Amino acid sequence: MKLGRLNHVGVAAPSMQDAIAYYRDVMGARVITDPFDMPEQGVKVAFVNTPGEAGTAGTQIELIEPLGETSPIAGFIAKNPAGGQHHVCYEVEDIEAARDWFTAQGKRILGPTRIGAHGTPIFFLHPKDMLGQLTEIMETPRGDH
Ligand code: CO
Repeated sequence: MKLGRLNHVGVAAPSMQDAIAYYRDVMGARVITDPFDMPEQGVKVAFVNTPGEAGTAGTQIELIEPLGETSPIAGFIAKNPAGGQHHVCYEVEDIEAARDWFTAQGKRILGPTRIGAHGTPIFFLHPKDMLGQLTEIMETPRGDH
């Protein structure tokens, strides 16, 4: 298993509209996507990127807002009413090899591998096994950022 670069930081927010305005107006980030619903995950999602150096993509923040009362991040927002850092996501070239690697390390994987907000296979690892961080692993073809 070869871990790639950090793909994005997931930030949960009570208001998607306010979160987008914050990243755009205060942080100078570019809004990459309009918010879209992922009903099967119980979240509304939007991506913003830091501008980055000339010719680079910058760094991505994934904004997530609870969608519906049974959203898996409703509890997170209840504990963090102002919003907060929710997860970190690392790239790998081979999702199955990564899954096997973390399983062999005794790390708890939360649910099946599935297609994430970026349209590529992902899985999540239990924060208590990952230095307190909910960790997303995303398959990203080499050079595809
Ligand atoms: Co994510």
